[in-house]
Amino acid sequence: MAENPQRKLPQLVMKKDDLTNLPPLVLPKDYSIRCFKPGDEFAWENIIKDAFNYEEVSFKNSISSKKEFIPERVLFICHNDVPVGTATAWYDPKWGEMTGYLHMVGVIKKHTGKGLGFYVSLAALHRMASEGRKSAVLETDDFRIPAIKTYLKLGFSPLIVHENQVERWNLIMKLLKIKG
Ligand SMILES: CC(C)(COP(=O)(O)OP(=O)(O)OC[C@H]1O[C@@H](n2cnc3c(N)ncnc32)[C@H](O)[C@@H]1OP(=O)(O)O)[C@@H](O)C(=O)NCCC(=O)NCCS
Repeated sequence: MAENPQRKLPQLVMKKDDLTNLPPLVLPKDYSIRCFKPGDEFAWENIIKDAFNYEEVSFKNSISSKKEFIPERVLFICHNDVPVGTATAWYDPKWGEMTGYLHMVGVIKKHTGKGLGFYVSLAALHRMASEGRKSAVLETDDFRIPAIKTYLKLGFSPLIVHENQVERWNLIMKLLKIKG
């Protein structure tokens, strides 16, 4: 996975302070949510390659070889049982024991525009809450506008971790027509 040349550093961080009272997961017709099962490696890699325009990505290197990997933490949204989007309810002690980390959110291009990123991310937040996490964080990039809109709708807010991010967030909020 090559570093994205569009990426501004440090990456943007968003935090959701409270995982209680998450809305129920009500899915559009023909869509379902399930977690990873053996054999899903290629489906995950295909979604991530398509969504992120990556030439290559390895489920093993990114997810299953890590000690945090638990199949129930890797969620898929399926269209007629075919996985078309994913999000992972990751955990990194760097953010604190009570905080989950929303990781690797992607929907294949053919299925974007229907808010599927919202549903699969919400499923990941429910998973974090079921593990007893109280809050969630994520890292993202300035140019990932559909993702940022999705995270704001899920109740995430910007967490400024560098002075250059004040202006960067102002630009994003202006683009999204959200008043600061
Ligand atoms: C993030 C992602 C999963 C969202 O997919 P999706 O659920 O199909 O998202 P949608 O196309 O429905 O867009 C989500 C929202 O952003 C809005 N949006 C999309 N593009 C926009 C733009 N250029 N300007 C303003 N708003 C925009 C949509 O109108 C929608 O808003 P709404 O919910 O109020 O209708 C998908 O875009 C993706 O896979 N991106 C590539 C990978 C990525 O960036 N992942 C996140 C890493 S942190």
